[in-house]
Amino acid sequence: MKATVVGAGNVGATTAEYLLREGLADVYMVDVVEGLAAGKALDMAQAAPVLGHSCRVSGGTEYGPAEGSDLVIITAGIARKPGMSREDLLKINGGIMAQVAQNLWHACPNAVVIVVSNPLDVTTHIFHETSGFPTHRVMGMAGVLDTARFRTFIAREVGGSAEDVSAMVLGGHGDSMVPLASQASISGVPLTHFLDDDTIARLVQRTRDGGAEIVGLLKTGSAFYAPAASTVQMASAILRDEKRLLPVCAHVNGQYDLRNLFLGVPARLGRRGVEEVVPVELTADELYALHESAKHVRSAIETWNALKGTL
Ligand code: APR
Repeated sequence: MKATVVGAGNVGATTAEYLLREGLADVYMVDVVEGLAAGKALDMAQAAPVLGHSCRVSGGTEYGPAEGSDLVIITAGIARKPGMSREDLLKINGGIMAQVAQNLWHACPNAVVIVVSNPLDVTTHIFHETSGFPTHRVMGMAGVLDTARFRTFIAREVGGSAEDVSAMVLGGHGDSMVPLASQASISGVPLTHFLDDDTIARLVQRTRDGGAEIVGLLKTGSAFYAPAASTVQMASAILRDEKRLLPVCAHVNGQYDLRNLFLGVPARLGRRGVEEVVPVELTADELYALHESAKHVRSAIETWNALKGTL
């Protein structure tokens, strides 16, 4: 198997490292900064004899070596800087995504693509509209990360292992995300058995603010270990055809009464990409919240539609 990682910054390089450590694929990293991807790839290659894997890794600034990739992971972009509006960020990262999409469409049109760059739901839309990839081979990574954060906070509150916590976070990646508290459990025992409503609401809010909490601590830059680990869980499901049911920013068209939109929903991932958007029974409140989240995403897409003419 072969994977290309676009953007060799914090998220991209960590994702590449995890892919190699798990022996999932040979990796090519591409970054606009001269020497960055090549240098990190050479460093990772030299770690291989010590770590004990035999995957190959290389890096560069060109898209040609991405040819034949089974999977592409896109982490290119900038993080929001102080004083920068969401629109400014969308303009820059949207422009980068459109450029990356065209390059990948020429280099590896048969790949399955995972978008990681923010603002996630819109960048996934932009990638799809700018390239010729079919909807089932385009998806965004957000739900696995948001769910991992929710699971972590629940486990810390209850005092057990986060591995025992089963949960799912749907909707857009941001303030409008929809943690399904009604379905969360610890080894099959409903969460409500362990925690009262106020505590659950507090953990839901901390999950919504999960990215900002880390930015606040780091001051320069944003989270990358959990984003990379979450991306690699999706990569594994695809490359190993595991058919895992994960929360994924996938194209919905009819499911959950939503049409023609990339949004966080439960999806089955396998070798062909998003093999099924799975209908899960939601409470009326959760379905309402999912539709509100869809409205937020549609409004961000409208902003992008107005901005892209000015690029
Ligand atoms: N093509 C390829 N790489 C690019 C391009 C481009 N057109 N534009 C920027 N890059 C590269 C940068 O050179 C940098 O190395 O993308 C990389 C981004 O890395 P970081 O700045 O370290 O950002 P990171 O923390 O990795 O986050 C990347 O993922 O989780 C999201 O919100 C996050 O949108 C951000 C993205």
